[in-house]
Amino acid sequence: MAAEDLQRIFRTLSDPTRIRILTALQREELAVQELMEVLGMAQSRVSRHLAILREAGLIRDRRNGTYVFYRFAVPADGPWHETWELISRNLSRDSTVERDAASLARVLEARADRARNFFDSVGPEWDALRKIFADDVLRARAITRLVPPNLKVADCGTGTGILAIELAQRGLQVIAIDHSPRMLDAARSKLREAGVEGVELRQGDLSAMPLADDEVGAALAHMVLHYLPSPAEAIREMARAVAPGGSVVVVDFVAHEHEWMREELGVTWLGFELDEVESWFDACGLQDLQCESHPGLSAGRNLPATFIASGRTPR
Ligand SMILES: C[S@@+](CC[C@H](N)C(=O)[O-])C[C@H]1O[C@@H](n2cnc3c(N)ncnc32)[C@H](O)[C@@H]1O
Repeated sequence: MAAEDLQRIFRTLSDPTRIRILTALQREELAVQELMEVLGMAQSRVSRHLAILREAGLIRDRRNGTYVFYRFAVPADGPWHETWELISRNLSRDSTVERDAASLARVLEARADRARNFFDSVGPEWDALRKIFADDVLRARAITRLVPPNLKVADCGTGTGILAIELAQRGLQVIAIDHSPRMLDAARSKLREAGVEGVELRQGDLSAMPLADDEVGAALAHMVLHYLPSPAEAIREMARAVAPGGSVVVVDFVAHEHEWMREELGVTWLGFELDEVESWFDACGLQDLQCESHPGLSAGRNLPATFIASGRTPR
């Protein structure tokens, strides 16, 4: 390697703020506003350092509606990687980095709170709102991926339990999970009304799923990912809870520009790029990935396209 290249690496990584930014982004993809909170710095400073890191190819950005999110992209090998490894290894007890980690946890908690508060305020009225997300044809298609019958399925982010009921009515055992007590109350009433047995409701967060390793044969998250602070983490949790050879299925929006959904539906993400979703599945070792998108189907509304992504845990 030429001395000039080395000099560039050391120059770029010599700034403490840039190191703090890379450390935070290595943990989580973040918007500028969120990075400002983590670092306790003004936008102009954060943006200047982000521009330098992007220019060096150490981070990538992606637009999600009016937000731009940044993610860690230090190459997986070579001199940048080696230098970064050296730096990050030696930072494990650094007090500033520890403080940043605590701020990052608060930022992610705030993301989760936004979704939780929204659903706690909506409760049973969700069934009227959910028509925006619901598409019977797509739902049925997703469900057929979950056979065989008698399978134990986790319905992750069950909401009012509509999918859990459908699954139970098809003879599957269901563990329905949601973090919102009000949504779980609504699901409990619906289950009672429908006279459905075989659904166990559990309260918990999808980032630390209330499921043991390999506890279920399949896991489904229908229109939930776009509410999660860290969708990749939820897929990792689903993969952990599914026994070898079982399925992980996710249905959600393809990346879109319907900014109104943030205000009206409390969403965190305006959909996802399919290659991004595939990379999350891939990163947890899921195999036989299938990802297909469908045009927005709900009649009379210009709605974003949806996708169904599925993969299998290795045997
Ligand atoms: C859009 S609703 C979808 C409900 C259901 N899957 C359906 O299709 O009818 C999203 C649900 O995910 C739940 N949720 C959002 N973030 C969550 C999290 N971090 N952990 C657990 N549940 C979450 C919400 O409380 C809500 O009930």
